[in-house]
Amino acid sequence: METFDADWLALREPVDHRSRAMELIDPLVAAWKRGEWTRVVDLGSGTGSNVRYLATRLPSPQRWTLVDHDPAHLQTVGNLKVNVPSCELAVVPGDIGSEGLRAVERADLVTASALLDLVSATWLDRLVAVCVEAGCAALFALNYNGEVTWSADNGPGAEVEDPDDRMVWNALSIHQVGDKGLGPSLGPDAAAAALRAFERVGYQCYLSQSSWRLGVDDAALVHRLVKGWAEAAKEILPQESDRISAWADRRSEVVSERRFMLTVGHDDLLALPRDSA
Ligand SMILES: C[S@@+](CC[C@H](N)C(=O)[O-])C[C@H]1O[C@@H](n2cnc3c(N)ncnc32)[C@H](O)[C@@H]1O
Repeated sequence: METFDADWLALREPVDHRSRAMELIDPLVAAWKRGEWTRVVDLGSGTGSNVRYLATRLPSPQRWTLVDHDPAHLQTVGNLKVNVPSCELAVVPGDIGSEGLRAVERADLVTASALLDLVSATWLDRLVAVCVEAGCAALFALNYNGEVTWSADNGPGAEVEDPDDRMVWNALSIHQVGDKGLGPSLGPDAAAAALRAFERVGYQCYLSQSSWRLGVDDAALVHRLVKGWAEAAKEILPQESDRISAWADRRSEVVSERRFMLTVGHDDLLALPRDSA
């Protein structure tokens, strides 16, 4: 079972919210109003970041179903209060491959944030089929797309490479497509694969960038990223553990010395059934 600790989710939430593609909200709200939608399913809800972002931007009434398999996160979202009129939240403990897909059968909108890179092509095909059957729209935010650029503090364009970046990224790209519980993961191809899958069934799709642009104020998040990347790379290349630790030390030093900018590529995808678009 893939788990994500609450500290990590809390660290990324403000960065996620400021990075999301705002331009997808208008077409989503227009379709929501036209269809008089109310029912939203949030898959892999974690501690509720996606609800906190979207509930204030969607018209009321809203009836949310939050699905996750982590009992600690479910307890947190069970106590969540959203300051939006006529907004009900229900929590469903379970797997997005079973309870999650069943919830989508009764939804107007299925959404998820920071989830799609963990799912498999098979799961995605099943989800799209359920969406078509239900006439349900989809909003998948913050899908990691594999683009990572370190630059100096004078901004993007002045890329600064470490001699071992390549080795670490190669290991990470193997880790990212490993099985996270639902079969081989889509990893960085997730948003592009979802775009193709929804276009194939005739949905109107909108793909927009939601990349993290991280600077010195985000140092705590970047330290955690470097640590997480090093751990993942060591799982793939245990024989290179010392070299990977040295890479992480050099990257962490640059962060501590406030001499960096880091871009981590993400994309947001909105897919609307043709009759609602
Ligand atoms: C990266 S976190 C994102 C959480 C939240 N959406 C956010 O944006 O902060 C991924 C979430 O998906 C959940 N998850 C991963 N695989 C799952 C599965 N197969 N079934 C149910 N939940 C799953 C994890 O427990 C975690 O809460």
